[in-house]
Amino acid sequence: MAEDSAQLSSQLAEATLNDSVSELKAEFSDRVPIKRIISRPDGGSALAEQKVRVGGWVKTGRKADKDKFAFLELNDGSCPGNLQVIVEAEKGDLGRLVLTGTCVVVDGVLKLPPAGVKQKVELRVEEVVHLGPVGGNPIYPLHKGKMPLEHLRDFVHLRSRTNTISAVARIRHNLAYATHTFFHNHDFLYVHTPIITTSDCEGAGEMFQVTTLISEGERLEKELIQNPPPSEADLEAANLIITEKGNAVSQLKSAKASKGDVNAAVAELKRAKDNALKLQERAKLQPGIPKKDGKIDYTQDFFARQAFLTVSGQLQVESYACALSSVYTFGPTFRAENSHTSRHLAEFWMVEPELAFAELKDDMDCAEAYVKFLCQWLLDNCYDDMEFISRQFDKTCIERLKMVASTPFVRITYTEAVELLIDAVKNGKKFENHVDWGIDLASEHERFLTEVKFQKPVIVYNYPKGIKAFYMRLNDDNKTVAAMDVLVPKVGELIGGSQREERYGVIHKRITEMGLPIEPYDWYLDLRRYGTVKHSGFGLGFERMVLFATGIDNIRDVIPFPRYPGKADL
Ligand code: 4AD
Ligand code: MG
Repeated sequence: MAEDSAQLSSQLAEATLNDSVSELKAEFSDRVPIKRIISRPDGGSALAEQKVRVGGWVKTGRKADKDKFAFLELNDGSCPGNLQVIVEAEKGDLGRLVLTGTCVVVDGVLKLPPAGVKQKVELRVEEVVHLGPVGGNPIYPLHKGKMPLEHLRDFVHLRSRTNTISAVARIRHNLAYATHTFFHNHDFLYVHTPIITTSDCEGAGEMFQVTTLISEGERLEKELIQNPPPSEADLEAANLIITEKGNAVSQLKSAKASKGDVNAAVAELKRAKDNALKLQERAKLQPGIPKKDGKIDYTQDFFARQAFLTVSGQLQVESYACALSSVYTFGPTFRAENSHTSRHLAEFWMVEPELAFAELKDDMDCAEAYVKFLCQWLLDNCYDDMEFISRQFDKTCIERLKMVASTPFVRITYTEAVELLIDAVKNGKKFENHVDWGIDLASEHERFLTEVKFQKPVIVYNYPKGIKAFYMRLNDDNKTVAAMDVLVPKVGELIGGSQREERYGVIHKRITEMGLPIEPYDWYLDLRRYGTVKHSGFGLGFERMVLFATGIDNIRDVIPFPRYPGKADL
């Protein structure tokens, strides 16, 4: 009886244990994410004696006690921390297990570690279920020490295994999730704008072209070498056959031959004509890119016109704002500018809300609320990653998020900004770029305003019309447009936006004045022809937001697969 009850209570204990472990398990996998073990308030100590399966990649490993066992620091990307795993020599090949980069799946029991060590729980391995060794030649390029981010760019397919790039990935994910949450909570609809477009949103001519003319031209060139086009003699011979077959038909007809014989001869004549026609068509084929009147003939291109990768989804999302009122797009954008700075990419992601029935002030209010929301989100949901980043890169990053989340942004006009810069120059500040009303503010000017002068985000608005895009609303002074840029410390320009020109006559004139063709924008003008509405919007450079949040120096390190002049790996 006593034995029965002891068995029952041990079964019960096991059931409770298994239940709670099954709650910890990853969805769609039998492993327990390391985050669910070590990122609890108790650091995982309450899970001691639980049996779990974990998988991950060895960060560092070392053998101990005369190679009787090994300590592995295991990371599975679920959080910045590692789980300490202890494997005895009889359980696995310690020599291979300890190598940085090795993948392991292990079953084991969580144990309280000896007093005085940093971790609150560690895993004693019972069975090594999988071992993905690192080996071969060339050797695994990531070693256990900290490697310069610049060097890691040569291994974009492996760098996601480093602490920094995985922290950035989690921060990016959170910023994306926060973005959708913010706009959804404010009743904005997410609109998927096209990546291939025929209109240049910024009118700056920095578009990558999308064409099949080059590959088609190359294919034809190869084909014509393998299978040369017909010669003059081939064409003449084909015509001669037509004449012969024609004569044969005439002769049969005048000899009053049977209907069957005449029909057969006519069919042969038709075949000869078809063949000659095909040869004539083939003879016209020219290798290379098709031209008409000395210019490339885009009517023969894939879309029967010139097409490009989008620089911004704004124009298209405006058409949805002018129907659904509050919308946003969030997608990749492409700029073929030959910029080698630490703030520019050739492919980057942009978040672009567009609000109907909204003026510049509403636009600024929306931008400010959105950036604040993003900062607070990171503080609430990514604190461990932010702490890691703050230790490794920028001690001020957490304070900066707190400050931005809680401080009203400064708002000044462009004219006031220029006055402040001129004052600074008078007081001895040196800028590389000359300051005068009418210039496009350079990064050094923007950073002076936000980092030195105000030490908080600054919204500069009402820029000279000459330096801004055609779609921005002309102010009554006829000199400035209702544009706004949000400038933040560490980055400079984070957001560019404006109230849109909703008056048909004015925007038509602006497009022409700026030397842009009307045709590609004709559909855009329809939004002003039919039911025009006051509307505004902005674009936030998503990677610039990650730069700002983390304080990492180069934009190439905050996007998984950076594209910039000379580089498009994978
Ligand atoms: O200021 P931009 O050019 O504005 C637009 O494209 C508007 N159509 C947006 C809108 O009103 N819907 O770009 C917006 C933001 C910039 O403030 C900057 O943060 C980022 O996009 N950006 C870049 N980020 C990385 N690399 C580049 N080459 C970038 N160019 C702009
Ligand atoms: Mg801009």
